[in-house]
This record gives sequence, C-alpha cells and structure tokens, in this order.
Amino acid sequence: MWTKEALKKVIEKQLGDYLLIVVSNREPYIHIQKKGKTVWQRSAGGVVTAIDPVMKACSGLWIAHGSGDADKKTVDSDNRIQVPPDDPRYTLHRVWLTKEEEDGYYYGFANEALWPLSHISYTRPNFEESDWRMYEKVNRKFADAVLYEIKDKKAFVWIQDYHMALLPRFLKEAKGNNIITAHFWHIPWPNPEVFRICPKRTEILEGLLANDLLGFHIRYHCENFISSVEKEIEARIDRERFSIIKGGHETLIRPFPIGVDYEYVERLSESEEVKKYMQNLKEEFLLDYDFIMLGLDRIDYTKGILERLRALDRFMERYPEYKGRFVFIQMGRLSRLHIPAYKNLNDDINALVEEINWKHSQEGWHPVLFVRRHLSYPEVIAFYKLANICVVSPLHDGMNLVAKEYVSTRIDNSGVLVLSQFTGSARELEDAILINPYDIEDFSEKLKDAVTMDREEVKQRMVKMRNQVAFNNIYRWAGKLLSELLKFEFRE
Ligand code: G6P
Repeated sequence: MWTKEALKKVIEKQLGDYLLIVVSNREPYIHIQKKGKTVWQRSAGGVVTAIDPVMKACSGLWIAHGSGDADKKTVDSDNRIQVPPDDPRYTLHRVWLTKEEEDGYYYGFANEALWPLSHISYTRPNFEESDWRMYEKVNRKFADAVLYEIKDKKAFVWIQDYHMALLPRFLKEAKGNNIITAHFWHIPWPNPEVFRICPKRTEILEGLLANDLLGFHIRYHCENFISSVEKEIEARIDRERFSIIKGGHETLIRPFPIGVDYEYVERLSESEEVKKYMQNLKEEFLLDYDFIMLGLDRIDYTKGILERLRALDRFMERYPEYKGRFVFIQMGRLSRLHIPAYKNLNDDINALVEEINWKHSQEGWHPVLFVRRHLSYPEVIAFYKLANICVVSPLHDGMNLVAKEYVSTRIDNSGVLVLSQFTGSARELEDAILINPYDIEDFSEKLKDAVTMDREEVKQRMVKMRNQVAFNNIYRWAGKLLSELLKFEFRE
C-alpha cells in the first residue's frame, strides 16, 4: 500500500541528485491583508488539495503565482517562503504577475479559452490573440523561475494543469535532458472535434509533447489527446507503448486517477478541532433536522449547481412531506469573478435560491442555505461530517475530489454520496447514487432514493467506497506517476 512514508523513501532513492520542483498557477498558501493584519490561508481547489500533502511528505520546491495582496511582504529576496507557515515543510517560490498578465493569461486564455474548451458544458470558449500572447509570456516567466532555481543542477519538474501548456517546451529548449518533465492535466481533454476549434491547437500540442510524461485522470482523456495529436500534427503514435514520438522525442501518455490524503482526512475528522467546528456550525445554522444535504463547490458553471437546485425544487414538489425536515446547505467559494460567465452564474444561483426558498418556505423554514465564505480545511471537514447526504453534480469534471473527501470523513460508514456520472470519480465510486445532472426528473427521484435508503445499504455502499478511496490515495497517485517515469517497480 502506498503511504506518505513509502513515497518519501521512493523519492529519496529514485530521484538521486535531481531537484524536485512542482509548478502550478495556484499557490498552496496565500498571504492577505485583513483588518490591517497580514494573515495566511491555504488555497482551495483540486491542485492544492492533491499536491500539498505530497510536497509536505517530500520537501522540494513549489513554484506558483503569488496572488495574495500580502504575498510580497512575506518572501525573502529570492521570492521564497517556507510553508505551511505554521509548520514549514517545503519551499514556495512566488512568481509575480502584472495585472495585464493575470488578465490575459489566467482570466483570458486559461479560463475563458482552455477551461470551457476542455469541459464539455456548452459554454463557448473565447479565443483572443492578446490573451494568447500573455499566456505565452507568463509561461516564459514560469520557465525563468524554474531555471533560476535549477541553475546548473538536474531537476525533475512536475507541471500542473492547463495554465502551463507551453512550459515544458520552454524548459526542454533551455535544458534538454538535464530536466525530466511530467505534466498532469487535471481537467478533461475534449474529443478532437471540440479541440480543433482552438486556433492555437498546434502550439498547445507541441508544448505538451515536449514532456516526458503526460498524465490525465482517465484513459478516455488519454485517448482523446492521442486522437487530437493524430488529427492535428505530424507525429508517430506508438499504440503498444501508449506514447507519442515527435522529432525523436517520446512522450508517455498515461491515466493516473488522482486521490486524497485519506488517512489525514480521516484523522482530522476525529479531531477535537473538527468537533468544535461541528458544534459551532450547528449553532450558527440551527442545524436541527432529520437530515442535512450538502453541496460544496467553487462557484463554476461546470459544477452543475443550478441543476442540483432545480432537482431539489422538483424533489420538494413531488414529495412535499419532506418539507421542514431537512436543509440543503450549498457552500460556495467565489472564483474567477472577472469573467462574465462566472459573475452571471453567481447571480443566477442567488436568484434561484431566492425563488426556491420563497416557493417552499413554511413557518420560518427555508430549504436552502447558500453560504459563501472562505472555509478553513477543518471547517470543510466539519461540514462533510454533518452531512447525511453529499450531492456532487458536475456537468463534466476530470475527477472531483469533494466526492472522495466526503467518503474519507465517513468513519462510521454512514452517509450517502449522490454523484454525477460525468465525473472521473464516478468510474471508481460505483457505489454512489449516480445521476445525470441534465435529467432533472430522474435526479430528483435519486434524491428521494438517497433520503430513503435503508441503513444497511448505506453502510454496505460506504464501506466499498471507503476501501477504494483509501487504496487509491494521493501517495499512490504520485508514486504511480513517478514509478512510470523513473522506471522502477513498487510492490503494493
Ligand atoms: C481546477 C483546476 C485547478 C485549480 C482549481 C481552482 O480544479 O484544475 O488547477 O487549482 O480548479 O481554480 P482556481 O482558478 O481558483 O485556481
């Protein structure tokens, strides 16, 4: 079984004199100014949830955009800081972006072009030449930061996600084989018909093919990538090895379904701190009901939040006897609000919550609580612990770690997971109640199944899901990726 200790040993042994460098857009720890004081927070989101435990176990260096308004104040002259700030385990190197760079690269090309292009959720991507130029420029900036850290040493650079498609090429051009790169694409890869609308498709494919290894959550996304290459550029596909050879360089394409730090989440969920948060939340939100349903997301149009609320509305229309007996808590972290689609979605959610609460409220009871605020990690865990039912309903999602985190907290094997069949997680968590978020009628019926499922069945399903999440934990994900690339075997 892969554990934190096993991964640490493997990295020490296999990496030898290679530096371990992770690169991502989002930084794991952010410093902000609050009421005249500098405070820090752990960032939310898929990449940080996944990589932070791995870095804590293995030390190393993480390069990311310093986006907090107090970030500059807290680094040394090399733009470095030891993190987590309260218990330093590894180094964070912050890269500074101007407003224009952030606009074009992050809001523009990454999140208005590549994000909707990769998720088939019927939001039209917007391709602007000026955004692309910033994307290129910022990828160069990240390459410079990596090269600054490496100097004349050798390094294993582990690149995260769709913000960095050009980085591998820039690194290889500068350092050739002194750098090994593995790139993990945390979101889906679309089919070739969708991908071909991207005006910069050749540059993106060539950037990614500079990697030694390119990983996706599931095999289907690997196949989509290979088909895109086949249709768009000159390269040789080696079906046997599941690799692509371009200009004499081979890139392995592999699925690595990501996981969570199961043991840590389990331990945390039994801590006094979490128990205290649970008590506070119960008091704050007057949580005295037969059951609590929970949705916990970044406010994003791929997450199916409106669909979830519509299904809840339909559920109450069809089964009014449940009114007054439950509450649905939708926790939302605001995100990417400069992009019109995100702002509009936030307004639409507000309006729908208002409408549903008006329609179904009775004697002071309102079915939906929509809470938007930053939550500390122990608070997130407290919410999971309080929820009898967790609803995860993306229209499309590479994996979705909320589903896996929820399962990790259910130590007593209680709790029902309602999960979209269009997430990577659904391939592993077959014992969840699987839904199609586009089919509101059926979704509402599945909510009824979740509410009425008998205890024995809840338990049986949860036990199976917990075994799966425990086995395929985050250390296994990292370990599998490394062993594939560095060609060693690990007996599980
Ligand atoms: C997705 C992306 C991650 C990102 C997360 C949060 O999961 O794949 O790269 O960290 O969303 O998004 P944000 O734009 O807030 O960093």
